[in-house]
Amino acid sequence: MESGSLRIDELSPEERKIYNTLKPEQLPQHVAIIMDGNGRWAGQRSLKRFLGHQQGAKSVQLVTETASRIGLPWLTLYAFSLENNLRRPRAEVNFLMRLLKSYLESNLQRMMDNNVRIRYIGRTRDLPPEVQDKMRWAEDATARNTGTTLTLALNYGGRSEIVDAFRSLAREIEAKHLKADRITEEDVHRHLYTAHMPDPDLLIRTSGEMRISNFLPWQIAYTEIFVTERFWPDFRGQHLLEAIAAFQCRERRYGGIGEGSGEVEENVDQIRIATS
Ligand code: FPP
Repeated sequence: MESGSLRIDELSPEERKIYNTLKPEQLPQHVAIIMDGNGRWAGQRSLKRFLGHQQGAKSVQLVTETASRIGLPWLTLYAFSLENNLRRPRAEVNFLMRLLKSYLESNLQRMMDNNVRIRYIGRTRDLPPEVQDKMRWAEDATARNTGTTLTLALNYGGRSEIVDAFRSLAREIEAKHLKADRITEEDVHRHLYTAHMPDPDLLIRTSGEMRISNFLPWQIAYTEIFVTERFWPDFRGQHLLEAIAAFQCRERRYGGIGEGSGEVEENVDQIRIATS
């Protein structure tokens, strides 16, 4: 199966209803998601937080499968931040690590069946060795799949990614005796963890918070942002499709001017500027 191939017949009836309203030629290439609200989902049900994470892992699987059915090439999920690692109770961090290992183990076959390739971004070398082993195992096993690339951001921080990129770029400059004032945006891009993928077209955040939380700060410069009140454990493929539908109603201008935004004045040099 080739990248971007469609398996629309495998969508649920609710998903298909929304999918049928989408413009196929304007599907995003890359969707990134800040998965938030696992703890609040559990709290609302008087459950322990870990049950929210466990249910959140189910959402990861289901949303990834929907992404693969609609031929989304890139899906990037913020699964564990550097700050989560430093600031959460050790017991919760340990649980998240065990959950990740178990997720990879028990979902490998489903990833294969859905032609999903798994990769990671972040300071993954600082994760426990047995977690890194399992991550490598899943990455190697799915490396030849050509459908959706699911990238998990693990022990990820956007500013530390930029620091890592600068360190690596500085080494290149030194080795090749390059001039610092020749550095371009493209050079920075080449040294980011995400050098191999396009920037996200759409960033989704669940649970209502209006923050970026240090997720892909360089890459989302022109990304459309969609925030939903829904907690991540309740987020499903149909909600991904709803976000894509909203995205398709946006006009992306990249700093240019859009339709209906006023007439362009050709003789601006003659216009008196009023500042008060
Ligand atoms: C935010 O919820 C979510 C996380 C800190 C981690 C995301 C983890 C998962 C979705 C589960 C495991 C993922 C994989 C890939 C197996 P929160 O705890 O910050 O929620 P709260 O803000 O309501 O407390």
